Amino acid sequence: MNKQQNNNSNNNSNNNKKNNDMSGLKHEKLLDREYQKKIVERKKRFLEDLKTEDGVFDNRTLLTLHGLLNGKHVDEFLGIINSGKESIVFSAIKENKYFAVKVYRVSTCDFKTMWKYIQGDPRFHLRKSSTRQIIHAWVEKEYRNLKRANNYVNSPKALLRRENILLMELISDDNGGAPSPRLKDAVNVDYSKFYELIREDLKTLYNDAQLVHGDLSEYNILVKDNEPVYIDFSQGVVVQHPLSKSLLIRDIKNICNFFKRKGVACDYKKLYKYITGEELQPIDEELANNY
Ligand SMILES: Nc1ncnc2c1ncn2[C@@H]1O[C@H](COP(=O)(O)OP(=O)(O)OP(=O)(O)O)[C@@H](O)[C@H]1O
Ligand SMILES: [Mg+2]
Repeated sequence: MNKQQNNNSNNNSNNNKKNNDMSGLKHEKLLDREYQKKIVERKKRFLEDLKTEDGVFDNRTLLTLHGLLNGKHVDEFLGIINSGKESIVFSAIKENKYFAVKVYRVSTCDFKTMWKYIQGDPRFHLRKSSTRQIIHAWVEKEYRNLKRANNYVNSPKALLRRENILLMELISDDNGGAPSPRLKDAVNVDYSKFYELIREDLKTLYNDAQLVHGDLSEYNILVKDNEPVYIDFSQGVVVQHPLSKSLLIRDIKNICNFFKRKGVACDYKKLYKYITGEELQPIDEELANNY
């Protein structure tokens, strides 16, 4: 082989290598593109399934959910945790962190009640509003209540609200994707210890956070590491709200009824005094009963 031939053969082998590299690269890119496509399809399928299965998500909500996927907030929606009358909660993941996404169903929300709660709240100044605006304010309220509660009691970290959607930390026993049980369903609970913890939390929430949960019961308390974690602050009001006393009375009656059923001595009047520092007045109880 002369020098020229040698050069040619080197060039050829270089070209072949280059071609091989190129085709390898192309192949990789193709695979990558296929993979990406599959992921996008899987992500979309979850939303499509929701649309058909549940038949409740309007296009605007689906667009907002797509927006969360396309933005930097969520990598993938994983599955439904709870499907209620007014909202659906599902789990989602972003870089090994799990989230709960609560989506209010625009078509079935109870606007009249929502409006009543929002109107008396000094943090909101909504004039006569469309139903959609009321839901957005409702989500804003839940988000703000949760943020406030986050500083005082165990509660899921509020992360983002967008229109009728709230993104928060997922409360899970193993810090994986399985949500923690509700107090109603939890097993191996030391109820008298649990009652003590809730009693302290309610006092802190009222006096320090100046917040009343408003929908407290064994359904809206999760159990994680033998401690209560409070969720669903949508009906929460600040203590200045005209309904705050009535809601507090209802909350503590629910709590006492539950713990009494579990054999824990619990007197709602004493609990009221412990939390507020005041005697429960018959007129306030009467108002709460009629509320
Ligand atoms: N951050 C969270 N982490 C884990 N699970 C959650 C979280 N938020 C909500 N859930 C689960 O979803 C359920 C419904 O959530 P939530 O109570 O906020 O909505 P809701 O509107 O009251 O629903 P429903 O009317 O069905 O009670 C809860 O009972 C709980 O099991
Ligand atoms: Mg609830």
